[in-house]
Amino acid sequence: MYRISFVPILVLILSVSFCPVGCAAEEGITEKRTPDVVYVGSPRDVVAKMLDMVKVTKDDVLYDLGCGDGRIVATAAKKYGCRAVGYDINPVRVREAVENVKRNGVEDLVKIERKDIFKVDLSEASVVTLYLLPEMNVKLIPQLEKLKPGSRIVAHDYSIEGYPPDTTITMNSKEDGVEHYVYLWTTPLKPGEEEEPEEEEESGVDEDE
Ligand SMILES: C[S@@+](CC[C@H](N)C(=O)[O-])C[C@H]1O[C@@H](n2cnc3c(N)ncnc32)[C@H](O)[C@@H]1O
Repeated sequence: MYRISFVPILVLILSVSFCPVGCAAEEGITEKRTPDVVYVGSPRDVVAKMLDMVKVTKDDVLYDLGCGDGRIVATAAKKYGCRAVGYDINPVRVREAVENVKRNGVEDLVKIERKDIFKVDLSEASVVTLYLLPEMNVKLIPQLEKLKPGSRIVAHDYSIEGYPPDTTITMNSKEDGVEHYVYLWTTPLKPGEEEEPEEEEESGVDEDE
């Protein structure tokens, strides 16, 4: 079994073709249902570690499923020059993400869409980032299995049950003082026994976005 940190769990349980960023966010909205998990932003140093672990390059197309305020997509585009798409079902988060992308001057690289992540086609993505509840990660498996071989999936705090990650890192975030877990897979996903992985201790690093 993988260790999980309980503070983030508690916080989570308590709550549910490229074009410029502004053009996609509020048009043709069809998703009106309640979020499956409330918004909790990944600390900036955890975001930096996630992107570092997946070795993002400018040739990547990164999807953040449940993008919140857009910090992952904005950081990825600004720091690595990649294209990115952030999906969120909550219109408040979508507006925040659009603003964040504009503030960081990466509108030409990032698209924000209001959409249910369980209806997103992932075949164009080369990197997928997740900070969702464990059962949501499991529900995404059929979509994640459609990723091109060699794509990378990185998940914050919750693994994908039944699919041992290639790498697991624990780190203490300087932002919230809490221990966080980051899991990395390279596709195709391989089912297997969940053994206690060797963990690499990391400490937080400072980031901007
Ligand atoms: C824990 S937050 C993670 C935010 C961001 N990825 C990060 O790491 O900072 C999860 C986000 O998923 C969104 N969400 C929940 N259910 C969703 C769904 N079915 N489709 C799209 N977004 C959803 C929530 O609105 C929330 O913003």
